[in-house]
Amino acid sequence: MQFDPTRLQKYVKKTDRTRPLFFTGRAHEMAIAQRSLDNLKDGDTEGNTVIFQGAPGAGKTALLNHIKANIRDKCDTATLRAPLIESPGVALFDVFEQLDPERAEQAKTEHRTTKQGGVDLKVVGGEIGVSSLSVPEDIKTVQQLMGLRQSDKTLVLFLDEAQNAVGDLSNGRSSVLQTLHEGGVGNVFLVAGGLSGTSAKLRTLGVSWLASENKRTLQPLHEDEIVASLEAFLNNKDFGIDSSGYDIAPLKRLVVDECMGWPQHLTNTLRSLGEELIGTDGQLGACDLNAIQQRSEALRAEYYLGRTEGIPSPLLRELINTVPENGGVDPFEIYKMIERAYADEPRLEKMLPSDDAYEELVRRGVVQEDASGNLTIPIPSMRSYIEQRVKVQEDQEGAPSGGAYHER
Ligand SMILES: Nc1ncnc2c1ncn2[C@@H]1O[C@H](COP(=O)(O)OP(=O)(O)OP(=O)(O)O)[C@@H](O)[C@H]1O
Ligand SMILES: [Mg+2]
Repeated sequence: MQFDPTRLQKYVKKTDRTRPLFFTGRAHEMAIAQRSLDNLKDGDTEGNTVIFQGAPGAGKTALLNHIKANIRDKCDTATLRAPLIESPGVALFDVFEQLDPERAEQAKTEHRTTKQGGVDLKVVGGEIGVSSLSVPEDIKTVQQLMGLRQSDKTLVLFLDEAQNAVGDLSNGRSSVLQTLHEGGVGNVFLVAGGLSGTSAKLRTLGVSWLASENKRTLQPLHEDEIVASLEAFLNNKDFGIDSSGYDIAPLKRLVVDECMGWPQHLTNTLRSLGEELIGTDGQLGACDLNAIQQRSEALRAEYYLGRTEGIPSPLLRELINTVPENGGVDPFEIYKMIERAYADEPRLEKMLPSDDAYEELVRRGVVQEDASGNLTIPIPSMRSYIEQRVKVQEDQEGAPSGGAYHER
């Protein structure tokens, strides 16, 4: 096919990238999801949960969407929206509407709709309220919903941004999550995605006794997986890129080095390559590798700026002094580090209240849990960015104040 700049332009400009065109890797995560699903089908377990967690840009949403696309033919799928979980009736009715819009509409007319947008579902011999306080009633609501579903396929619910879920019960748990996870309604599989620490959060919401293999922190993609994505991009027939006779080894190296396994950077580097190709009429041989690298570096800096925005430099300085370059520290060390930074520089409190500092570092993915539960600065290039930012700040302000700097 002939080179068509409009298609490449569309790719470069695309803003919703939660379904990457050149999805790569994550075989282990796919296997985890498939195994749990099989266990459920075989009746080994009733109800099940897997949790994929990781920093922003690690690829959680893309993974959830990929799993969904893979199982769509065999299972019923729907989204369980984290911000709705606080109101079980609303959250479940939203699921029901996705699964069976017609019957959901019918239920709305047959039953009383609650103020919050949920529905009072009736069962023989009584009425079930969308109570936010009593477990049994909420469980019945879920059961009723499943009864209305009229499908014997496994139902797979996708809960992205799970760190935002809030319980509805007086003990802090979520009747919906607890019931689904414990199999109270059978044949429902929950696939959750969220930032580091989400599995601990879900535990407090009632997703307890989670098998360790059902909880996974997304790690960087392997070099070969990055290359596979690059090749899929170059060979994509729609673009019509001409790479004949071109030695792609230096380009592969460049892409691998720029990405460091990080999906977000893979996207940025492929975008940079796409922009360059638009300028060379699709001739790979005419592309300037330096220009691609500079573009992708600029996108990366922009991305890190967004992630560290609002986090005061003295706190970041203390962080890089606390977390070793190729390792992690116990979360407790991060709490201690925050205490130190705020004791040394009381003005930080105005910039970011100390009570919010830990969560903010996790929420922005400046730190991420590794497989053993320690916290790391997940991408080497982010660490370099932070070091640079701290240095620039210090140069502007003069040397750091006395006790704030802890040599290690
Ligand atoms: N396996 C993958 N293969 C190729 N590209 C990927 C993959 N996973 C993610 N991406 C790309 O990386 C970028 C970040 O992915 P995604 O939005 O899924 O991250 P996330 O972990 O959900 O981030 P956030 O916490 O900000 O929601 C997107 O541009 C996405 O297209
Ligand atoms: Mg996401």
